[in-house]
Amino acid sequence: MSAEVDPIKVMKQQVGIAAAQRVQSGTVVGLGTGSTTAYAIQHLGDRLKSGDLKDIKGVPTSFQASVLAKQYGIPLVTLDDVDQIDVAIDGADEVDPAKNLIKGGGAAHTREKIVDGLADYFIVVVDSSKLVDKLGSTFPLPVEVLPLAVAPVTRALEKLGGKPELRMGVKKDGPVITDQGNMVLDVTFSDISNPAELEKTINNIPGVLDNGLFVGLTDLVLIGEIKDGQPVVREL
Ligand code: A5P
Repeated sequence: MSAEVDPIKVMKQQVGIAAAQRVQSGTVVGLGTGSTTAYAIQHLGDRLKSGDLKDIKGVPTSFQASVLAKQYGIPLVTLDDVDQIDVAIDGADEVDPAKNLIKGGGAAHTREKIVDGLADYFIVVVDSSKLVDKLGSTFPLPVEVLPLAVAPVTRALEKLGGKPELRMGVKKDGPVITDQGNMVLDVTFSDISNPAELEKTINNIPGVLDNGLFVGLTDLVLIGEIKDGQPVVREL
């Protein structure tokens, strides 16, 4: 690989394409959010255009996914229009050996969990930098919160041993506002030993919409990595 090529970008692209290759004609596809899934959405569009893939419908997990799907010619439907989702493709911020995830780096985890959780088959697409032994070791846990409840939820998360920080905008003064009009607390925990329990405990705090722990939802993790200078995709 030449020096100018960004290896992370290449890994994301290859893994996104590999996931999109698995989608079959006539299916309903959950379209995830983030820079890796963007390559999958683009490849789905390429396959539709070439005639290799026919008659798919996309269910977007965010404004970003919806914009990309329209750009690449993927017909969109809502959850009111379909009985089930055949396959969902989405990225992650951390993946543990049990295929549990932290998501929400793009503040889309609430809608992502609805769509990814409804899919018969959920494919996670990551580059190898996202693999961790334990969740929470590199990435704080995103928690979507109703704006009026930010102060009490912050206190409740501190009582659970977390260090919450309100996510602030980039090129926008003030906090990040989610697609649903809410705010995000990024919570650092020194140890997430029981992700399933922590997911439920946090979601039980009044004012919390959902948190970025995805436990027991993943069917397949595709990992993009560079081996001997070449991008390769493997399964976890
Ligand atoms: C969006 O809120 C997230 O859950 C993304 O899916 C996650 O942050 C992965 O994004 P990248 O593929 O851009 O790393």
